[in-house]
Amino acid sequence: MRLGEKITVGILGMGVVGTGVAKILLNQSQLLSERTGKNFHLKTVVDLDWERDRGVDLAGVKTTTNFDELVADPEIEIVVETIGGIEPACSMVRQALAAGKHVVTANKALIALKGEALFKEAKGNGVELRFEASVGGGIPIIKSLREGLVANKIKSMYGIINGTSNYILTRMHQEGMGFDAALQEAQAKGFAEADPTLDVGGGDAAHKLTILASLAAGGFVDFNAIPVEGITELTTLDINFAKSFGYVIKLLAIYRSDGEKLDLRVHPTLVPGDHLLAAVNNELNAIFVTGDYVGDTMFYGPGAGQLPTASAIVSDLADLSHLLAAGSEVAVTPRIKPEKKVSLFTIKEIANRFYLRLFTLDQPGILTQIAGALGQYGISISSVVQLETHGAGDYVPIVLLTHEASEQAMFKAIAAIKEFPFVRPDILRLRLFK
Ligand code: HSE
Repeated sequence: MRLGEKITVGILGMGVVGTGVAKILLNQSQLLSERTGKNFHLKTVVDLDWERDRGVDLAGVKTTTNFDELVADPEIEIVVETIGGIEPACSMVRQALAAGKHVVTANKALIALKGEALFKEAKGNGVELRFEASVGGGIPIIKSLREGLVANKIKSMYGIINGTSNYILTRMHQEGMGFDAALQEAQAKGFAEADPTLDVGGGDAAHKLTILASLAAGGFVDFNAIPVEGITELTTLDINFAKSFGYVIKLLAIYRSDGEKLDLRVHPTLVPGDHLLAAVNNELNAIFVTGDYVGDTMFYGPGAGQLPTASAIVSDLADLSHLLAAGSEVAVTPRIKPEKKVSLFTIKEIANRFYLRLFTLDQPGILTQIAGALGQYGISISSVVQLETHGAGDYVPIVLLTHEASEQAMFKAIAAIKEFPFVRPDILRLRLFK
């Protein structure tokens, strides 16, 4: 498994990220060669569309629409997969692994949903599957968890790991912009997924959390077991209420371990304004990681975009070249052990502080009845605000912050509050950072 001085690479998918990888390999070849001792030769790039100008000079690189040309070429040692999504990416990655090629991917959905089978395939073929770019764009969080923090059990991770959502929330918070307009801006800047519901619905962050949690826990986490809520129900009213209480709303991917079971969730969270995560704005990502020996660390940087993501992919190429040149057996032993069972708390076992926003008719005795419903389920209120008017017809907004209460109690209390004839059904429940 020794790689020679020249390492021949093919790219599968010349979209935004694949083009970025080509740019770096072609423009930084001298630097990469000095730093790795290897000459990365970009031989073949595969895409269905060769009409559009990608802003990179591919003279000397074979451009083709035929994946077989890449996978059947014995000279190509590493395939970079930048198609995204599950199919056809999954089948092509499998074929590349089966053909004895190492694969480097930025595809978070693929690793989160098909990782277990693909790592098995890679191991069976004595090749590597690398995925640094799948989480946090240009932030080297995978390598940090795998190597830099190897001495630690990870106690908690709080990640802002969807650039699009963070961009939207920042624009709403700082400019008072509406949700739709902010999403359009994020799309125009190229941060959003082809299907932006993955971004704003929390699915993309949950894919990335699945990967981080699997690495931290050392066993495969079931993506489908993670409770996920997105940011689509948030209004500028909520952003402003949160601000008035001293919080910033962020879409957080949460990993908390009690040493045995994991509490994994993705949801919008009220983060105290003085926390480091509150200052992570626009498309930037950050992962706040606490290890049992290292303490608190934070990894911060561009979580989306062409060159940051490509930078992470190239780091995998360099890493792979060193590892394989050394003939290390460790190379094909994934840090995530298929036999290790990872147990998750169910959301009902979790307790949180809550933010509750509802619209009610402005009549005597209403607050008492709402407080009574919460009290009935043992939920204690810590703050209440009611605005006089919000242009919402006869309804006025009321916001309550609670002390810590179980998710189950809050679920039941909201069901009871929804029964009141004076309450509009669009009740929003958010959690506070803890
Ligand atoms: N759509 C993703 C995001 C791209 O906004 O973070 C990077 O994975």
